[in-house]
Amino acid sequence: MISQSFIQDLLSRVDIVDVIERDVPLRKAGANYTACCPFHSEKTPSFTVTPTKQFYHCFGCGAHGSAIGFLMEYGGMSFVEAVGDLAARAGIQVPVQEAESLRRTPGAGSSSGEVSDKTQRPEGSFQDLLETMKAAAQFYREQLKHSEGAIAYLKKRGLTGETAARFAIGYAPAGWRNLDSVFPDYAAKARANLLVEAGLIIKSDDGKHYDRFRDRIMFPILDLKGRIVGFGGRVLEQGEPKYLNSPETPLFQKGRELYNLFAARRSIREAGRVIVVEGYMDVVALSQHGIGYAVAALGTATTSFHIQKLLRQTDNVVFCFDGDGAGRKAAWRALEESLAQLVDGKSIGFLFLPEGEDPDSYVRNFGREAFEELIKQALPLSVFLFRELSARADLTTSEGRAKLVQDAKPLLTRVAAPGLALMLLKQLAEISGATQRELEDLLKIRRVSPSQFRERAPRPQPASPYRWLIQILLYDPGYVRKLDRALLMEIREHAEEIAALTALVEFIDTHPYLGKDTAIPSAITYFHDSPHRALLHKAESETLAWDSNIDLEAEFGGALARLREMQRKQRMTRLHNKPLSMLTPEERQELQRLAMP
Ligand code: UTP
Ligand code: MN
Repeated sequence: MISQSFIQDLLSRVDIVDVIERDVPLRKAGANYTACCPFHSEKTPSFTVTPTKQFYHCFGCGAHGSAIGFLMEYGGMSFVEAVGDLAARAGIQVPVQEAESLRRTPGAGSSSGEVSDKTQRPEGSFQDLLETMKAAAQFYREQLKHSEGAIAYLKKRGLTGETAARFAIGYAPAGWRNLDSVFPDYAAKARANLLVEAGLIIKSDDGKHYDRFRDRIMFPILDLKGRIVGFGGRVLEQGEPKYLNSPETPLFQKGRELYNLFAARRSIREAGRVIVVEGYMDVVALSQHGIGYAVAALGTATTSFHIQKLLRQTDNVVFCFDGDGAGRKAAWRALEESLAQLVDGKSIGFLFLPEGEDPDSYVRNFGREAFEELIKQALPLSVFLFRELSARADLTTSEGRAKLVQDAKPLLTRVAAPGLALMLLKQLAEISGATQRELEDLLKIRRVSPSQFRERAPRPQPASPYRWLIQILLYDPGYVRKLDRALLMEIREHAEEIAALTALVEFIDTHPYLGKDTAIPSAITYFHDSPHRALLHKAESETLAWDSNIDLEAEFGGALARLREMQRKQRMTRLHNKPLSMLTPEERQELQRLAMP
């Protein structure tokens, strides 16, 4: 068990004001401190830090928590990392048994042996990977200074030395074994393994090692903590692939990281928006021209993680794509991922550049103001959605309009935000000529009447009560105390969900200090490499749409009631399947009892 007392002790030795001040400039206001909230965008400060209680609270968005919570939410740290960070500041050691229990395997017992959990690794080697990336980045930067060819290439692309330095751009020289010289002080074998794990060198089938990145311009990729977790490498002129990225490593998952998000946080807050472009060079060029709030996905399609991450930073996300067919396709995928993530009050827009331009060329040709003018003309998600759908059907015929409705159905049912769902339905009604009511019946969409919408957010209920409980526990781990553990018994069709729920319950049991604000980020980190990850993640994204109107007590009661009912039926079926003569008297009695709930 992790002792509550250690956490308390730790929190009492740091001042939350110092912790937050490092990222968010605070202004004194009486006994408290205020700032514009770093968790949502606003013009007047409603974010308050109370030193006497060592808490932060935002009256605008409801964000609140302790110093640990802040590091997790804002810094993107895991619980372990946040504790480690604070302990380091306070100059105290995390006691061994605390560190041990923090490293417990997630979902122990229910998972297969090959889980390589982040938190389970010996501390040293994780740190070693980060050190390795840092040393490699330094090496690449140093090499750039000596490579006339690479410098000439960057100059030709219009980059100033200042910009290259700001993005820590480097150059991986040609040749197969350059990194050998960078890490001379390890035993050869351990070093090679580390470099392979970091994705910097490749081990060929015949056991030979060689550098992954050769003769490429190197763009370091930072995570939200500002640590180098990967690289993108561009060929100088022609060559395939044009960009080579780090592989998936313990440090780096492409689907979760966004190039430049770390450095852009401040600009994003100031601009009140983030723009998502396609390429590294787009981000860099925009920044050089004064647009610091651009980020890029790393050679992958937009994922729901990306969108979640971005919506945590700002209320306005604008995707910018090339105006060609590939760009529209990529935009459509981003739209599909966005539907479930959007909450009312936030907006996602789509910007298509003129054919033949990308943000890099556009901002160089026409300048910052012209580009920002374009951003203003981005299509709201709803407009892009219906434009595309309308283009796929002939709206002059009944058949075409019916197709429009059918095409819209899977998309509309994904929308979690009640206000947006209602508006989209109204729009669909307008375009298709059917009434809203008819559409609701046709699409079997739960009716969203304006009054219902005001009183209580309707949300699609999960397929099984297990999943439902997972969501509730992630949202408010306090409910674990009211959970009837007997209900966690096996039901075959739901084995996966039960295993995930059981692991989550165990996690909450062993982390009693988890609050409403810290449960989700720490659970997600904790289950990072666990087989339950996908399921928990999905559940977590579903809770994103919940707001304070949700009646958790009722939801929780409802889930338990449904579970009891399922188990009653299952037990009855089992008893019914036994020949009557085989039933013990107790079983007969039980059967009678079960039959009349
Ligand atoms: P693009 O091919 O559109 O090129 O790749 P770009 O960004 O305009 O690059 P420059 O201007 O020629 O340098 C867009 C992004 O897609 C990923 C990279 O993240 C790139 O920035 N990509 C592209 C790859 O990962 N691999 C590739 O081979 C190509
Ligand atoms: Mn380009």
